[in-house]
Amino acid sequence: MSKIDRREFLGAAAGVTAGVTVAKTEKLFAAPAVHISNGTPDNPIAISSTNGLRGVARAAELMADGMDTLDAAIEGVKIQELDPNDRSVGYGGLPNEEGVVQLDASCMHGPTRRAGGVAALEGIKTPSVVAKYVLKYTDHDLLVGEGAKRFALSYGFQEEDLLTDASRESWLKWRANRGPNDDWVNAEPDETLLYRPTGTINMNVVNPAGDISSVTTTSGLAWKIPGRVGDSPIIGAGQYTDNDIGAAGSTGRGEANIEVCGAFLTVENMRRGMHPTDAALETLRRVAHVSEARLLDDRGRPTFGLSFYAVNKNGESGGASMWSGRNHAVFDGQEARVRDSAYLFERD
Ligand code: GLY
Repeated sequence: MSKIDRREFLGAAAGVTAGVTVAKTEKLFAAPAVHISNGTPDNPIAISSTNGLRGVARAAELMADGMDTLDAAIEGVKIQELDPNDRSVGYGGLPNEEGVVQLDASCMHGPTRRAGGVAALEGIKTPSVVAKYVLKYTDHDLLVGEGAKRFALSYGFQEEDLLTDASRESWLKWRANRGPNDDWVNAEPDETLLYRPTGTINMNVVNPAGDISSVTTTSGLAWKIPGRVGDSPIIGAGQYTDNDIGAAGSTGRGEANIEVCGAFLTVENMRRGMHPTDAALETLRRVAHVSEARLLDDRGRPTFGLSFYAVNKNGESGGASMWSGRNHAVFDGQEARVRDSAYLFERD
């Protein structure tokens, strides 16, 4: 069957089975805008993980000057990507188990409804910008590994060694400490290195026109198996934007988030009318509900950390974490500040 024949066949079949004309069938596919926004913010709003305190201020300042929401959010997270002292993102991020820094990032641009991402990208300091190039210059949503690097190099990104002296030192210590039965002599016992951070930066922004964007960037789980990809580059998990509703994103255990499409779910919760904080908490409830038994404590609570950050079209924002004691950064229209996150479980 030719392409045209097939289309006509499907059109006819839809009309017959649904008992409606094709024009009416098209209406069935309209976006379900259950939550009707009752306005947009007077000033730009930005919310991020706590490491984005400088970033939310920068993004808000740029949006106030008229910069596009995605461009501004990426300028915000780039501060962390380029900061060698942020060990969870970009340059200086903690490496995989072979000592190689592999970065993940993704972004969405509300006004054009486009998305882009890169995963397991090596040698490029700013994966968030490469993700934006995927969004802008390709018909694809996600490029990975060597292909992602070649794509970045073709646009003039510089290949650099992302492992700083401090990150290399941590990796060498981790390798020596990870087990008693391997060939590495453990000269400096250090239990703290067995803890594996999954630091990341997520940022979600809305401007006074009601345009929304989101971006998440990370070096992923420290000491990961080479090629492991977390939630950050997965559109709908690490971040998600719907320009009619809002945006959300995450930090923490990526595997748990991917399994519920957490950023998408949080936006859908806002579509049902929930405040961003409640929407994020509801997603965490779902994560806790579906978590495997091996990841729960003796009271049935997840043993891992996971946080969501969300903003709606009105400019309301909120953050929530699996466990108490966490916070996030927000530019609330007036100032950049750190705000306590809501939580599902209280630490004993
Ligand atoms: N959330 C970051 C990661 O799991 O890679």
